Amino acid sequence: MAHRIAVIGGDGIGPEVTAEALKVVRAAGVAVDTVDFDLGGARYLRDGEILSDATLDQLRAFDAILLGAVGTPEVPPGVIERGLLLKLRFDLDLYINHRPFHGQPGSIAEGCDFVVVRENTEGSYAGEGGVLRFGTEHEIATQGSVNTRFGVERCVRYAFELAKSRTRKHLTLVHKTNVLTFSGSLWQRTVDAVRLDYPEVSVDYNHVDAACIYLVEQPQRYDVVVTDNLFGDILTDLAGAVSGGVGFASSANLNPDRTSPSMFEPVHGAAHDIEGKGIANPTATISSATLMLRFLGEEIAAARIDAAIAADSSEHAGVPRKTTEVTRSIIERLV
Ligand code: IPM
Ligand code: MN
Repeated sequence: MAHRIAVIGGDGIGPEVTAEALKVVRAAGVAVDTVDFDLGGARYLRDGEILSDATLDQLRAFDAILLGAVGTPEVPPGVIERGLLLKLRFDLDLYINHRPFHGQPGSIAEGCDFVVVRENTEGSYAGEGGVLRFGTEHEIATQGSVNTRFGVERCVRYAFELAKSRTRKHLTLVHKTNVLTFSGSLWQRTVDAVRLDYPEVSVDYNHVDAACIYLVEQPQRYDVVVTDNLFGDILTDLAGAVSGGVGFASSANLNPDRTSPSMFEPVHGAAHDIEGKGIANPTATISSATLMLRFLGEEIAAARIDAAIAADSSEHAGVPRKTTEVTRSIIERLV
């Protein structure tokens, strides 16, 4: 049975990289039935649709969603992000953002292998807050961070399960418990409680500012990092940069309970400056597709593609190439 995949290419280089990822998936022998959904900034500018309830219901019927990148400079910040990307994460309850990093040859984190587990439905992304007296000298803007015991615990449990399945079995909570004493305490107490169920996992804690230094100076200390939504957003850009560039960083927005389709996307954005030039690096999206294949039970194909990606990137580290050249090289290295 072919897997049913909804493809949201989106804006900028998004459609270019999702197309390449699907070529690799098919070349690895996995049958996928894809349906394209024209969503993103360009679509919004054309007819006003961001993500209607009807479209969301159609998406629910798929096994997974593969997303390129969304957002256009002509649309004010937040419209597409909140209305499309975050709406998908929230409404499909994709509460884990699983972001693996493999330090590329020549990168600061060369040889390192770690995963950031970012809570994906709460924190300061929840949209709590508001504005009063907008545009006046007396304007007040508040933007809170929502942390529920339920939301934190399901994220922390996922991270412990992941750590338990890995060789090093090490988990680091990253937060800012010295300043964010309410939410930090909830995260810390949740980790302290859940760790009792995982005696084989060693546990560490880093403040987020210190974690930024460690990511640059000692990235090898990390195995599984668990953190809140906003810290996870920032930390994963840095993790991508020290691992060889966000051009390699993949991500999985997961609903581990499988009550709705999970969504797979590269960490990088739409990169409008290189749109249509045929030079976007599709590696991050191809890696995201392997996360998708693993989640769909296609472990063997995913491992073959990952090995081909590793062989390709170690051979061509740092060399700019055409998009299709990268794809061809990865497909040639599939064994
Ligand atoms: C990411 C992105 C998004 C985020 C934006 C586009 C809303 O930066 O996936 O990391 O902040 O989560
Ligand atoms: Mn980000």
